[in-house]
Amino acid sequence: MTSIPKNLAKTLDKLIASQQGLYREGKVADYIPALATVSPELMAISVATLDGKLVGAGDIQAPFSIQSISKVFGLVMAMNRLGDSLWQRVRMEPSGQPFNSIIQLEWEKGIPRNPVINAGALLVADVLASHYSSSKLAFLSFMRHLANDENIYIDQNVYQSELIHGNRNAALTYLMKSFGNIEAEVPEVLSHYFTQCSISMNCHQLAQSLLFLANKGVDPRTNEQICTRQDSHRINAILSTSGMYDQSGEFAFSVGLPAKSGVGGGIIAIIPNYGVICSWSPPLNKFGNSVVGMNLISGFANELGLSIY
Ligand code: DON
Repeated sequence: MTSIPKNLAKTLDKLIASQQGLYREGKVADYIPALATVSPELMAISVATLDGKLVGAGDIQAPFSIQSISKVFGLVMAMNRLGDSLWQRVRMEPSGQPFNSIIQLEWEKGIPRNPVINAGALLVADVLASHYSSSKLAFLSFMRHLANDENIYIDQNVYQSELIHGNRNAALTYLMKSFGNIEAEVPEVLSHYFTQCSISMNCHQLAQSLLFLANKGVDPRTNEQICTRQDSHRINAILSTSGMYDQSGEFAFSVGLPAKSGVGGGIIAIIPNYGVICSWSPPLNKFGNSVVGMNLISGFANELGLSIY
């Protein structure tokens, strides 16, 4: 399907060069104050392929707050633990609402639209907090395992900042609890969720960690089955329809890859049977997606003709 450019590094260098200065079109997230301290000019793109290539350009070694990209990993863990019963507590439909919207959750009786909006990820956090004796440790170990790097860490500054400014997430969780859809105590769920959002990783680490989703659930580096083939399919479907929040339709229209963004400015995109792209640039558009990060991924995907549609 894909013609791999002979010089992937050169393609990525050119893409980074094409984005100089464009970070000014976005705004670094400040509703979690610790995120606002990051330099807006940093940017990076990495591509990891199933046949073992790892190529990048820009600030590829700089760690950033993975934020909502953590929702993908939490979902894998919850699917592995709960199996199909998870889908009685969260749906798989696009929400058409901002990622932290509360309005739909009451109409729909505490059942979140999908696991990658905040309400859905908090539901997943409840599953993990209720099914692991130490879900935060289990999550961090999972991330270190997938990245094959024991140095991956939780940024305590970001964690504290999320906790202090987490009233919207608390409201979402209490509302779900009022409908009987949250098992653990709300502070415990929030603590798990803020912990996973506060993990710092760089583009190389994130791209490599998600290779299993481009390879039917199997990590091509180790042949380990990280999730079932069916769950890999399902996660990619959810990322295609909801991973870029209420800009998911436009992203499918213009790029055509399953993807997930975070308010730290990171975006991951899965290229089935080929590899994973991770881009990063902190300033966001009004949907909470990185402006330059989206340009980098769409530039790469369009140049190589990677759309899955
Ligand atoms: O809960 C929050 O609002 C953040 N910790 C994560 C939100 C996020 O990354 C949404 N992404 N675009």
